Amino acid sequence: MGLVVKAMACSGVAENNVKEGAGLTMGNAQYAISVDNLWLKYREGGWLLKGLSLKVLDGESVLIIGSSGGGKTSLARALTGTAAKLFGAEIKGRIEVCSKDINEMEPIEIQRCVQVVNQDPYTHFLEPIAIDDLMSYAEKLYGGSRAGEIVDYIVKQLKIEDIVQKPITNLSGGQLRRLAIAKALMANPRILVFDEPLMWLDDIEGGRHYQQHYLRAKEAK
Ligand SMILES: Nc1ncnc2c1ncn2[C@@H]1O[C@H](COP(=O)(O)OP(=O)(O)OP(=O)(O)O)[C@@H](O)[C@H]1O
Ligand SMILES: [Mg+2]
Repeated sequence: MGLVVKAMACSGVAENNVKEGAGLTMGNAQYAISVDNLWLKYREGGWLLKGLSLKVLDGESVLIIGSSGGGKTSLARALTGTAAKLFGAEIKGRIEVCSKDINEMEPIEIQRCVQVVNQDPYTHFLEPIAIDDLMSYAEKLYGGSRAGEIVDYIVKQLKIEDIVQKPITNLSGGQLRRLAIAKALMANPRILVFDEPLMWLDDIEGGRHYQQHYLRAKEAK
């Protein structure tokens, strides 16, 4: 089975319902994500994504469904340019995020546009202590003078004060995922991709905080 795409809450498109090879266009609309005829394969094995096309408008929430090993995580990697650069995948086709070809964007520019909350939350962190990790990413994004203020803001907004002072290795899977979401939101991206969105997040109250923060941030743009 290929990947199936459903638009859940959207502006202008009732059901995206795009399968491999079938594109959806809206005249001259500015797309947050535009994938045209994407082919992706790793060094071993054949083509995993075969001519996948996908258009996502600003404000759309899109759910991508596919079997285990069907290529969902690989698609998320392709959207951030990491499939080729970090995972050695061969890619054909055109991917635009924030109306720009990802091949013409610097990594930091892609990160400001699209953030992925990975299926494996450990992959997000480089520093042993959570707060240090958030700080160093905030410095990279906003410079040293604003980093503390940004981290304080995001930690308070997402109510993760109890988590951030701990070593990454002492956190539960759900706590790690909440931290990964905080890190992704810190970049204030136009596009937020959740790989396995509900995994380990059984805390409904926590989920509400993320949603409220994200909607507020979007309104402020
Ligand atoms: N770095 C890699 N090198 C080679 N093959 C890979 C690599 N990463 C993933 N694959 C293979 O690509 C296929 C798709 O993997 P992917 O992780 O994209 O699937 P998925 O749809 O996210 O699956 P799941 O629902 O289990 O998370 C799998 O067969 C996997 O083994
Ligand atoms: Mg996956």
